[in-house]
Amino acid sequence: MTQTFPVEKLQALRTPFYYYDTDILRQTLDAVDTETQKYPGYHVHYAVKANANPQLLRIINQYGLGIDCVSGGEIQRALQAGFPADKIVFAGVGKSDWEIELGIDNDIFCFNVESIPELHVINQLAAAKGKQANVCFRINPDVGAHTHAHITTGLAENKFGIAMADMETVIHLAQSLPCVNYKGLHFHIGSQILQMDDFAALAHRVNQLQDRLEAQGIQTEIINVGGGLGIDYEEPLAHPVPNFRDYFATYHQLLRLRPHQTLHFELGRAIVGQCGALITRVNYVKQGAAKQFAIVDAGMTDLIRPALYGAHHRILNLTSDQPQETYDVVGPICESSDVFDKDITLPRTQRGDLLALLSAGAYGEIMASSYNCRPLPVGYLSEEL
Ligand code: LLP
Repeated sequence: MTQTFPVEKLQALRTPFYYYDTDILRQTLDAVDTETQKYPGYHVHYAVKANANPQLLRIINQYGLGIDCVSGGEIQRALQAGFPADKIVFAGVGKSDWEIELGIDNDIFCFNVESIPELHVINQLAAAKGKQANVCFRINPDVGAHTHAHITTGLAENKFGIAMADMETVIHLAQSLPCVNYKGLHFHIGSQILQMDDFAALAHRVNQLQDRLEAQGIQTEIINVGGGLGIDYEEPLAHPVPNFRDYFATYHQLLRLRPHQTLHFELGRAIVGQCGALITRVNYVKQGAAKQFAIVDAGMTDLIRPALYGAHHRILNLTSDQPQETYDVVGPICESSDVFDKDITLPRTQRGDLLALLSAGAYGEIMASSYNCRPLPVGYLSEEL
């Protein structure tokens, strides 16, 4: 199934907006379900940072996924959407006290702890409530990922996680504190990763660390390998569903899970990326000295990925079938980086045409800002139009 657009219905809506094709989303979730069913003990937590649209969350929740949160606001959003608290994992290098208390009050599945000071605070806040909190330690595995420098997280130089050398120290500390339960290890090496070798490298690292722990008689229940599986931004129509088969099979073949252990994943982009498109209207076509510009009503405030990471989103003209011409597609914001793409060919484009920026379901709507006092973009689901 490829993505199609109900152009007449979209024409009637005020642009710019996000359009989510729920057939694609369901097809993606079916694929996750099929692949994880093969491996007992595998659990996927949707990384809600990718997209927290409440209607999308309801569909994701229907498939029984857990949820990965990085703030108190995300925990609240997840609970509102009906995710059970005992499927919430809570990560983040700088959790505030109120966020930790929210997690403790709701008895979430696990805190992914990133430092010794954080462990002490969780222990104190749990003690004050007469409770115990489950903790995993986020270990920095010093494994590189072949992706954009801004979204690689697992190198020793990154701010995330606890150094491998300190792993036993923090676990012993947790075991000595009364109000935290040591449950396991957490990792995340980066995002938009398409080479299975990167996940293989992480699996090997986990094996080494597990051997080290076992040699010391330390029992571990949970292994969480984070997220990061990428999507095809270049050919999204040909590849609407990511390669979940190879992804889970890589871990199954290489990561030596002990019989009593569960393996957890935190996938964001791979779940929602391809179902979403940013729909925008062409306000003007301008002939510059050296270029032809299609000036659209969406800007970097609606989709910041091209400006921030140099990311590439395929652009379709939904309303023209004229001969191809070359355009820079740019937004209306007063910033030179407010450019969606340069020197691309599109059917001859004119004022009023609708363009779709594809693969925008992840880190699109959620990263929108109101810079220039612009309204935040709305999200519509295909099944509600
Ligand atoms: N787990 C942790 C600890 C993370 O930091 C992230 C993403 C994920 C899971 C989910 O990763 P995913 O499966 O979506 O790759 N705004 C950037 C991406 C930032 C990713 C941050 N962490 C972008 O637009 O490309």
